Amino acid sequence: MIIRNLRLRNFRNYASLDLDLDPGLNWITGQNAQGKTNLLESMVCLSLTRSFRVNDDRKLIRSGCEFADLSCAVESSKEIHLREVIHSGGKTLFINRQAVTKTSEFIGILNTVLFSPDDLGIFLDAPMARRKLLDQEITKVSSGYLYALKHYRSLLKDRNALLKQVSPDRSYLDVLDSQMIHESEVIIQERREFLKRINERIQKIYQKLSLSSSELIIQYQCCIKDEDCASALGRMFETNRERDLEFRMTGAGIHREDILFTLDGENVIYGASQGQKRMILLAMKLAFIPYIEETAGQRPVLLLDDVLSELDEQRQKTLLELIGRGGQCVITGTGIPDSVKREGFREIRIDQGRLIGGRQ
Ligand SMILES: Nc1ncnc2c1ncn2[C@@H]1O[C@H](COP(=O)(O)OP(=O)(O)OP(=O)(O)O)[C@@H](O)[C@H]1O
Ligand SMILES: [Mg+2]
Repeated sequence: MIIRNLRLRNFRNYASLDLDLDPGLNWITGQNAQGKTNLLESMVCLSLTRSFRVNDDRKLIRSGCEFADLSCAVESSKEIHLREVIHSGGKTLFINRQAVTKTSEFIGILNTVLFSPDDLGIFLDAPMARRKLLDQEITKVSSGYLYALKHYRSLLKDRNALLKQVSPDRSYLDVLDSQMIHESEVIIQERREFLKRINERIQKIYQKLSLSSSELIIQYQCCIKDEDCASALGRMFETNRERDLEFRMTGAGIHREDILFTLDGENVIYGASQGQKRMILLAMKLAFIPYIEETAGQRPVLLLDDVLSELDEQRQKTLLELIGRGGQCVITGTGIPDSVKREGFREIRIDQGRLIGGRQ
């Protein structure tokens, strides 16, 4: 799919921007703090309804303004117009100029895969960022997963509240457990399938990108070991119940799972260099593309924020060869390195939230 006619009004540092993106490679260049990441952020908002940088949507409204208005045309099997208006009281979403109330209707029309240096947080100790990444990517192609996850989270909240009571009602605990088992089954099956398919690809991409023959594997650290989810989950809840009652919280489950990246058998968190971590993250993002393409039937738009820093010249070149194989890509940087300058890309120069020179 392709993003056309991006139109921003009062979004971040953009008062007014009308940008026609090319179907291939688009380079957004500019000095620091001019609005390059903001531009990618606007595309992510039109894809997922919200930003990847802030939880409070109001931060997206240009200082001193009352609302931000973002829109674009998405060209896939047919052309769809998306619009999001963010105001102090919330946001309104439009598909083909009709207001929609469910965000789930909006999400999935524009599919994007974003590389952001902030994602390197997945290589810190805490598993939360890794789970978030997993959920974010699977949600893009599976509304069933999104539903199961939301329902599980609300059940977990109820269960933990119940466990904090002086004498928790055990029959209510049974009800919550059986619903949580049901949602966990959906989530585990989707996580298994997703990681299986990413693992089928990531290795090759990483080897090309890193010019090495290292073995990169993502291991799913699932809360159950058996293939048969329902009975294994039942046993897990049963085994943990007394301990949960004692500690007054749900100790095990899909909300505690993790994924482990290993490079030649070594945990990446403790063993890999900064450049290697960047390449692993990139390889993972590049592996998402065919996964989404197969699952959703459309190739997503690739958004790469500040991706070339910390990569040497040879690896920068290889990356551009890898992404140059069809599909729309928007990439930011303070400049375009001489080593990668080639025909067939569009440069979009940004200065203080405005386009300078070039075609608009
Ligand atoms: N709500 C807002 N209203 C006005 N300006 C904003 C708003 N939010 C952010 N900005 C401005 O946007 C600028 C940062 O833009 P952005 O993060 O896109 O920079 P960048 O070009 O990606 O820079 P770098 O190369 O350092 O990553 C800052 O100057 C910031 O003050
Ligand atoms: Mg930036």
